[in-house]
Amino acid sequence: MIDKKGNIIKPDFIELTRYAKQFSGLTIEKENVLLSVKDEVAPLLGTVTDNFYDAMNDIPEAASYLEGRITGLKQTHLNWMNSVFTGPYNEEYTESMYDVGDIHVRVNLPVEFMSGGVTLICNELYKIIFELYGEDSVKTHNIISAINSALGFSLFVMQKSYNASVDEALNKFLLITGMSEALFAKLSSSFNATKP
Ligand code: HEM
Repeated sequence: MIDKKGNIIKPDFIELTRYAKQFSGLTIEKENVLLSVKDEVAPLLGTVTDNFYDAMNDIPEAASYLEGRITGLKQTHLNWMNSVFTGPYNEEYTESMYDVGDIHVRVNLPVEFMSGGVTLICNELYKIIFELYGEDSVKTHNIISAINSALGFSLFVMQKSYNASVDEALNKFLLITGMSEALFAKLSSSFNATKP
């Protein structure tokens, strides 16, 4: 994103990692749970990806973004799904999820696609976890809790890119027009929308 002077800036990824971990409850114990099941889960992740894109294709608002791109998207998506189980959830992972969020911003994907998409992926992942470990309720609970935190973490970071794009749009407007932030805030607060 660009700051008020037009310089390109990136967040502090160490700090963003801490922030996102606290909100998602992602602990080292949960990372280890994900790692411990990765070999058994990995062969089933292709089905999760296929089902995710089938579901996307059934949503009229989403389908148009996928035209002609499905094969490539499935591959990058599968790579990411594997990384969910391997981690590590450090500043490099955070930066890569921030960049993935940014790519979605650049192709004008609505922000709600991020939470909707993660919800659908969680549904698919929970299905395979129940198939694999359903008879051991404690293990199943621990894995699902770890997946919930890992995907919550990823979603949190992707959404930061969307926030940054809103700030960027305002900063560009101020730079192009030469308007001060104070004047913009004054005009904005004195603007009264007409009731429908
Ligand atoms: C919510 C979870 C999602 C994840 C984790 C995810 C993951 C990814 C990844 C890893 C990439 C590639 C980034 C790169 O090139 O480095 C990507 C690109 C993309 N994704 Fe997603 N995605 C998600 C949701 C969606 C949804 C819901 C749609 C649309 C229905 C979508 C459409 C796209 C498009 C159009 C691109 C850009 C393709 C291009 O390079 O032109 N994604 N996504």
